[in-house]
Amino acid sequence: MVVPTTRELTLERALSRVRDSFVVVARAGDYELLDAEPWPTPADLGEAGRRVALLAACHPESLGDASFCADHQVRYPCMSGAMANGIGSVEIVEAMGRAGMLGIFGAAGLPIAKTEAAIDRLSRALNDTTPYGFNLIHSPQRTRERGRRHRPVPPPWRTPGRGVGVS
Ligand SMILES: Cc1cc2nc3c(=O)[nH]c(=O)nc-3n(C[C@H](O)[C@H](O)[C@H](O)COP(=O)(O)O)c2cc1C
Repeated sequence: MVVPTTRELTLERALSRVRDSFVVVARAGDYELLDAEPWPTPADLGEAGRRVALLAACHPESLGDASFCADHQVRYPCMSGAMANGIGSVEIVEAMGRAGMLGIFGAAGLPIAKTEAAIDRLSRALNDTTPYGFNLIHSPQRTRERGRRHRPVPPPWRTPGRGVGVS
């Protein structure tokens, strides 16, 4: 049973257990959450308690469209979008992959050597069955080669139609 001390703490505890179901009980002008397994007895509710709702279990892997997980071979329909200049870093891409999610490395704006190092590191860290991606921004009308560096100007995600982010 979730022991309510404050509403925030009660919600925080329930959110840390999203795979469990709860019964919402109205009592003394406030709401409490009781575990739905086992189903609360009248003694659990007490004289003043009234069941008002069922908060159903939420399985993160069941959110969204199942085809996303099937297409990308991930457990959770969750991805971290690319962020240029390596802000979408090897660390987050690796952590996402290990957690069953899809991480995209932000290669735009980086020297090619850094992108190659990221490819080497991720291909070593994540085996062939763990998916991940690299975002290469293709802006043929705006891109200049300067010292083998890919420079999208301005960033295409700020100016729709000026470039295409390829993940
Ligand atoms: C700092 C920053 C850098 C980004 N760099 C890229 C990028 O290189 N390529 C890209 O396709 N999107 C880029 N984006 C867009 C994000 O990947 C993402 O699509 C966007 O933030 C919307 O996601 P959200 O709805 O979860 O916030 C960038 C966003 C931010 C904030």
